[in-house]
Amino acid sequence: MISQRVRTIEPSATLTLNAKLQEMKAAGRDILNLSVGEPDYPTPEFIREAAKFAMDNGWTRYTAAAGHIEARQAICRHVERTRDVKVEPSQVVISSGAKQSLSQTLLSLVDPADEVLLPAPYWVSYPELIRLAEGVPITVETSARENHRLTPEMLGAQLTPRTAGIILNEPGNPTGTVSSAADIAAIVEFAQENDLWLISDEIYEGLLHDGPMHSPFSLDPDRVALISGLSKSFAMTGWRIGWTVCQPELAGAIGRLQSQNSSNACTVSQACVAPALDQYDHPDLKEMYSTFRDRRDLMVEGLSQISGVHFSNPGGAFYIFVDVSERLGAGGVADDADDLALRLLEEHQIAVVPGPAFGAPGCVRLSFARPESELRQAIEGIQAFLG
Ligand SMILES: Cc1ncc(COP(=O)(O)O)c(C=O)c1O
Repeated sequence: MISQRVRTIEPSATLTLNAKLQEMKAAGRDILNLSVGEPDYPTPEFIREAAKFAMDNGWTRYTAAAGHIEARQAICRHVERTRDVKVEPSQVVISSGAKQSLSQTLLSLVDPADEVLLPAPYWVSYPELIRLAEGVPITVETSARENHRLTPEMLGAQLTPRTAGIILNEPGNPTGTVSSAADIAAIVEFAQENDLWLISDEIYEGLLHDGPMHSPFSLDPDRVALISGLSKSFAMTGWRIGWTVCQPELAGAIGRLQSQNSSNACTVSQACVAPALDQYDHPDLKEMYSTFRDRRDLMVEGLSQISGVHFSNPGGAFYIFVDVSERLGAGGVADDADDLALRLLEEHQIAVVPGPAFGAPGCVRLSFARPESELRQAIEGIQAFLG
């Protein structure tokens, strides 16, 4: 009865762990939850106020399927300010979250059996979204020891006549990677030489700990589809606002797809796009970003003291991806990363996400979107477990 397309979608790989976590919570156990994927901050008050005002002032109806013109204009201003590229509202499609933007962009670009180069470790949804579009994800492995550096040589080793495009994600989930300007330029050049499209998922763009990021969109806006949204940088995960900015023909295709698929993103949420983006330097946001930087430093310092684990210092987002493979197997602390995550939860009440879901079997993802006191306790527990 269920279609082939949906039957083959992998269920979430973190289900078992989540079930255990819920069970322990229900039994009244306090969990140090380092598995979270969203800021622990509430949406800033100035944005919530904008939503209340909008609700009372007519932002309650359908908008254009691709998004309200004022919201799209705000995204154009934001892209010009941050990527130094002038774009028109006709190049912007606002969706219900970056995930929908990604899905629709892939559906608009991928033909059956097209291969999509996907640097690993990757965010969990990419392989399934590529498969849903009837494409084939081709992973390109990067390593913590090399700071997850991605080079044209690594991409070239996986290139075939069926290769259609590349997905980049910076700052990255799960590694926090932010590449140098030179590395991004080399990847864009590789895409140009091989006539590949590039999807650049920049949903963590506001959470930068060591300086600016380098968007491939700035280098070749005709080839690159820029994906972002309000979820992470503005602590607005529940508001469901994401967008694709790309060349007009592709934006038109995505807009048509969305007009049949779901129509416009929530109008009240769209009313917050301009207030949020235009006040990118609001003190509430700056405070949140600097707290994340302090937490990153705390985590790096704590984990550096454990031998036999490797990670690259995350330049952005709120995750640290730790390679624990030397500590697994015979004589190690656990059989594999899934087992390690389960034992950390059962024995130390610390929840982390095992690496297989990100295409990196010997690793675990730790989120630092939790208060400092909780992170300190978690570090102590992890040190005790792995020490
Ligand atoms: C890399 C990456 N892209 C996209 C998303 C989805 O964002 P949204 O909540 O706006 O759909 C996430 C959320 O975890 C993410 O980590």
